[in-house]
Amino acid sequence: MSKSLNIGVAGLGTVGVSLAKIILGKAEVLKRRSGKSIVLAGVSARSKGKDRGVDVSHAQWFDDPVALAKDEGIDVFVELIGGDSGAAEESVRAALEAGKHVVTANKALLAKHGVALAKLAEEKGVSLNFEAAVAGGIPIVKTMRETLAGNEVSRVYGILNGTCNYILSRMEREGLSFAECLADAQRLGYAEADPTFDIEGFDSAHKLAILTSLAFGCEVSADDIFVEGITSITSADIRAADNLGYRIKLLGVAQRTDSGIEQRVHPTMVPKTSAIARVDGVLNGVAVDADAVGEVVLVGPGAGGDATASSVIGDIVDIARGVCLPVFGEQASGLAPYQRAKMRQHEGGYYIRLAVEDVPGAFATIAQCMADKGISLESIVQRRGGINEEASLDGDPARPQPVIMITHETTEMAVREALEAIAARNVTAGQPQMLRIENLK
Ligand code: HSE
Repeated sequence: MSKSLNIGVAGLGTVGVSLAKIILGKAEVLKRRSGKSIVLAGVSARSKGKDRGVDVSHAQWFDDPVALAKDEGIDVFVELIGGDSGAAEESVRAALEAGKHVVTANKALLAKHGVALAKLAEEKGVSLNFEAAVAGGIPIVKTMRETLAGNEVSRVYGILNGTCNYILSRMEREGLSFAECLADAQRLGYAEADPTFDIEGFDSAHKLAILTSLAFGCEVSADDIFVEGITSITSADIRAADNLGYRIKLLGVAQRTDSGIEQRVHPTMVPKTSAIARVDGVLNGVAVDADAVGEVVLVGPGAGGDATASSVIGDIVDIARGVCLPVFGEQASGLAPYQRAKMRQHEGGYYIRLAVEDVPGAFATIAQCMADKGISLESIVQRRGGINEEASLDGDPARPQPVIMITHETTEMAVREALEAIAARNVTAGQPQMLRIENLK
């Protein structure tokens, strides 16, 4: 057996540079722990001459990541390019075809091509490791793929996007608007190049798709995720949630139900007493509900060069130790087709905020529309001028006033139909706000 493991790294951005620093700076300890010298043998990036604060000149330079992926001098190809196609996909496929182990941080690639790539890796008898692709530095893939292998998972959920959690946490703590917090997130470099991807929930959805496969032994199906972002959340919602004993978090939830598996990403009311409610700022948190272990919650950094590189190097050390596992915890060819539970059948409690005209019978009309759909209300509160932020809800009694309702457990379909019926009765103004309440201990 060779005494060294030669690594080729494609992509020398923040994570690639942190990884190079760890490989070069911790050579001795990595060798003791893995039983092999881990050698940075090849690199590929856009610009050869750029000063990255780490000297990689001893490694062979490749302009073309596909050439690096296929190079005979490489045992493990590390893909840190990003994107669900192009150079990232081509180089990962080329590496696997050539019988190289692959480590990637690329959630988009796995969300789109994960099953095909896993089949290829398993055919070739090599590893495809991706700890860094889900929640950055949190070891959730290892936990699910290895440690929880004896469990049946009923639900996996989490805060999978640090940008959104930063925005929601600051809105709550400092009473700021969504726009102010987004601007700060961009200034501080938390939001990715296009914030849409984060704030509309797509980044969380990619990560959730991977978690769903690990949790339920099904094919990755990112196109089957119900996705709502956080752009509609107002300070009024944050304050109302606080008064009612909740926090609002962007959760990704995958849950087994009688009609299939729900995959959903949406702003969610979580009880303040739950572990996930206490995950603040840019941190991520992932919780797994499983039969033998009960609930496991992991919290940590979901992004950042060093934290993400920590997961990448852990995957490399596994390969050096000779660990090679089924990519999604079961043979890829045996993964079940994903069976989607329809969102309209989702069951749970709901928070509803309406702007209600101050006319006789308005409440009665609303209550009747809810009752017609079999929805039982846990509470209904009107706070004249108390939770207003929109110009039209400024405490002027002549204007529509905010009414907050919490429902007992009902279905998404019932709530949507009730809201349509209310809208048709001309007792409310503007768009209603509707947030799902997650049933958590
Ligand atoms: N942009 C992501 C976040 C990190 O804000 O958490 C990378 O997926």
